[in-house]
Amino acid sequence: ALAGPTGRAAIGFTPIGVSSDDAVHVPDGYTVQLLYAWGDPISNGPAFRADAGNSAAEQAEQAGMHHDGMHFFPRVVNGQPSSTHGLLCINHEYTDDGILHPDGMAEWSHDKTRKSQNAHGVSVVEVELGELGGAFRWQLVRPSAYARRITARTPIRIAGPAAGAPGMRTRDDRRGNVVFGTLANCAMGHTPWGSYLTCEENFNAYFNGLGEPTADQKRYGIRANGAGFRWHEYDSRFDVATEANEANRFGWVVEIDPWQPAQAPVKRTALGRFKHECATVVLAGDGRVVVYMSDDEAFEYLYKFVSRDRFDAREPAAGGRLLDVGTLYVARFDADGKGRWLALQHGQHGLDEGSGFADQADILMRTRQAADVAGATKMDRPEWLAVDPQSGDVYCTLTNNRQRLTPEPGNPRAENIFGHIVRWREAQGDAAADTLDWDVFVLAGDPENPDPARRGNSKGDAFASPDGLWFDRAGRLWIQTDVSGSVLNRGDHQRFGNNQMLVADVASGEIRRFLTGPKGCEITGISATPDARNLFINVQHPGEVAGGRSSPAAPLAGSGWPANQFAGVTGGRPRSATLVIRRADGGVVGS
Ligand code: FEO
Ligand code: CA
Ligand code: CA
Ligand code: CA
Repeated sequence: ALAGPTGRAAIGFTPIGVSSDDAVHVPDGYTVQLLYAWGDPISNGPAFRADAGNSAAEQAEQAGMHHDGMHFFPRVVNGQPSSTHGLLCINHEYTDDGILHPDGMAEWSHDKTRKSQNAHGVSVVEVELGELGGAFRWQLVRPSAYARRITARTPIRIAGPAAGAPGMRTRDDRRGNVVFGTLANCAMGHTPWGSYLTCEENFNAYFNGLGEPTADQKRYGIRANGAGFRWHEYDSRFDVATEANEANRFGWVVEIDPWQPAQAPVKRTALGRFKHECATVVLAGDGRVVVYMSDDEAFEYLYKFVSRDRFDAREPAAGGRLLDVGTLYVARFDADGKGRWLALQHGQHGLDEGSGFADQADILMRTRQAADVAGATKMDRPEWLAVDPQSGDVYCTLTNNRQRLTPEPGNPRAENIFGHIVRWREAQGDAAADTLDWDVFVLAGDPENPDPARRGNSKGDAFASPDGLWFDRAGRLWIQTDVSGSVLNRGDHQRFGNNQMLVADVASGEIRRFLTGPKGCEITGISATPDARNLFINVQHPGEVAGGRSSPAAPLAGSGWPANQFAGVTGGRPRSATLVIRRADGGVVGS
């Protein structure tokens, strides 16, 4: 096992119990503030209508649905990053069209398609901490010159080796270098030059309408009957029978400069195409940029990108281009606790014309197939990656994989219904290294489960399906859970209650529960101000029903959050939202 680092900041709060009610709970001494819920105006725009009656155009000036990954970019004042003023970038992963429109999905239309598209993507909002009657509260700055919505219709530049490749060209974009929109924006990353990376995960769900899918389409889950979205009926880009290549233009990592609201975001194709969960950036010792990435599906892979050139802090504006030239690797874990990064480079690891890869652009557009050929390790749904600021060790959540029949290195349980967290140390502590040593940090599940095959080994509080993962500056590891609505609070999962957030001391292995969410939600997205006294988190899809698609009536019974908790109003539509957590005495959150 990797020796845990020592001398890190302690966890100071008293853990809370599990919950199954329709509210957010935090430890004694902490406060929770509602900051930004679905439908709230990003600037001086239209107010949210509680009956979901906002138009598609209004939705484009309001918070999208299903908040996910997020990052706080502090304003720099006199060379110092502010802890009271900055920009929040927030992903809006997908929509529940059953509650996005007053009458749900009934009589599907052009306008409903547009509203759904405009509720996807990213928010950039300006936020500030103010004092009101002796109480500190965060609020959106309105109006704000930085406030911006990026949606499934925003023009986005395509850069890197796959830009302009034949498979990236469409009828509307014969050069293959501009695409409308980003979608399925799950988790994220942020760069040393101050940009935001938003990751396109389940993009296949939006494409529809074809006959028998090709092998390449099948490998990415693109199928004849889609996954419930009906955009293709009113937007032919999403009708694969009409435009076969549009789907190749999704499944990428997208870079956004939050401080340049007029600048188009950029899809960075050198980082590969798959169902991107997150993109966690560190600098190697020599200044090369390393991006850790995961493909969240059962038996998919872990990746890292290493830039060819080095980051120069004197030229931050040149940073983005570093993501266009470099090497994409995929991880192989071995039974002896070692592992190897395999370069997905044309001419290496069997990747050539003989195995069906024409060139590097082809490898990047069909990254999954390239990783198959290279012989990477099939993982149990890799989600977020976090790098320990003190040791450089990398931690990754493997949320679950009940389809696994046989354990393999890095994935120790057959029928892994509760998930685990794996970690590794790069050779010589060099993030750009070719080899690593790995171990399992924790097996999720109930430590008292009578079945040893399902027993967890958390030293402290029990949880299941770890997903969001983040180190604070002092080295505390924050874990967020996403138990699916189909098993939440039922059977083997009843023990864990609603989805939650915990804090781990990676030196001792102790894990304490910090927060529990309302009914039917997932907890995801986490960032803090530089002084660590304000923690931002997201509650995604409160009231979600099993299967994920609600009727306008059903969710109202499932959850009335957040209006029930913060406005004393019952019976409202459930809304995903960003919360701010502070200590009542203004101290460091978690300490
Ligand atoms: Fe969008 Fe894998 O979570
Ligand atoms: Ca996730
Ligand atoms: Ca998940
Ligand atoms: Ca979710």
